[in-house]
Amino acid sequence: MDDRHIQLLRNLGFDDIESGKMTNDYWKERAADALAITTQDRDVYGCLDHTIGEGVKIYDIEGTEYLDVTGGVAVRAFGLQYKPYLDFEMSINDVIREFPGMDFDAIPQTLLAERLAQISPGDHKKRVVFTTSGGRAVEGCMKSAMDLSGRSRFVAFRPAFHGRTGYALALTSTNSKHKSGFPQGVDVIRVFYPYCYRCPYGQEFEDCNLECVEALRYALQVEGNDIAATVMEPIGGEGGLIVPPAKAVKGMYEVTKECDAFFMSDEVQAGMGRTGKWFAVENHGVVPDFVSMAKALGGGYPMGASIGPAPMYTAGSRHSETFSAEPKMSLLSLWILKHIEDGGFLKSNAERGAYLKKRLNELKDKHEVVGDVRGIGLMVGVEFVKDKKSKEKAPKLRDRILKNAVQKQKLWILGAGQNVIRFTPSYVITNEDIDRVVERLDNAIADSQ
Ligand SMILES: Cc1ncc(COP(=O)(O)O)c(C=O)c1O
Repeated sequence: MDDRHIQLLRNLGFDDIESGKMTNDYWKERAADALAITTQDRDVYGCLDHTIGEGVKIYDIEGTEYLDVTGGVAVRAFGLQYKPYLDFEMSINDVIREFPGMDFDAIPQTLLAERLAQISPGDHKKRVVFTTSGGRAVEGCMKSAMDLSGRSRFVAFRPAFHGRTGYALALTSTNSKHKSGFPQGVDVIRVFYPYCYRCPYGQEFEDCNLECVEALRYALQVEGNDIAATVMEPIGGEGGLIVPPAKAVKGMYEVTKECDAFFMSDEVQAGMGRTGKWFAVENHGVVPDFVSMAKALGGGYPMGASIGPAPMYTAGSRHSETFSAEPKMSLLSLWILKHIEDGGFLKSNAERGAYLKKRLNELKDKHEVVGDVRGIGLMVGVEFVKDKKSKEKAPKLRDRILKNAVQKQKLWILGAGQNVIRFTPSYVITNEDIDRVVERLDNAIADSQ
């Protein structure tokens, strides 16, 4: 970190900050003392330097450079310090900060709502509610589904990740640490997510009779079909980067419709063009009633949206948040949407994702412990197993590979589920970057067995 930024922190009243203290250990210790929670392991990751970085290059506080394939957990659509984005941001620096979007009208949020309604699947009349996080984008949809249907039960999957607060947490099931001890906010009927590599019904892909869809039909028959909505990730993210077959998603949709309920696609991670389509559910040929968005919609700023069928809420004040569609953030989101389109990023995400998968499949051929490589566009996962035949999960090996990748190979990477590594890079990643990523992962795998 340069002297200017150090001085800046000192000017904020932190007189003890000096260049000699810019070490990972010092700041991790200080963070652990001050912050209640970190979801990642401080033994693996260094402290990030918030003042430098470019594209897919990020740095820790000691100046070590990493190749980032997390995209800030699928948030930074265009990577760090993307010049056209910075230029646009500079050009709107004089706009007003913070209008409470759900209390008063302002132009940016109206235009953003119109645009999202236009690009989201389906020709039905939609309305939009804005928020500042993925979990609350999910909850905006859930509350609307309850309001419109008069029902309050939901279908969700195992695994599933929809957030860690309130109603969204009730849908989540990826890790008992998120759930145990916290009351269940809404009643949930839970069935297995369509996970063909480990079909919960013991089927092989070729023999599949959509047992997972039948399981949902049966669950609704025996537990009651008075559901407000089925909530599904179009690609399971946190739970292990699982790509469901289109026919299973369609099946879940149809069973939901048999109950006169809504179908909701949680696009917080997979949406915003990441898979090569604006919304990942489009890959499955399903038109959902509700869509939740966040992460890349704000390109680094907290912006989320719940999109639902008009009128969405039966009356004003049925739902509200103070921080909603702040004008500057709304303009930035509009810019991101336009730039994804103008820059041909839907096409290039699909192409680069296919290249990433092809290269990772070479690692699958090479290493016995790489059981599966799957994904759509720039949302890809690698599942680690003891050996290909037994498919026994190898969570400890995955953790070793992750640590090696970060610490020795300087590959900034994240896990998903119990034994998967995921790739959700920024859309500016190049094929040359991808070659470097695969080489580093290859080394980390070889080094960890
Ligand atoms: C599919 C999905 N839904 C919801 C969330 C929750 O988002 P947030 O952490 O912004 O509340 C996430 C976060 O990873 C997610 O992947």
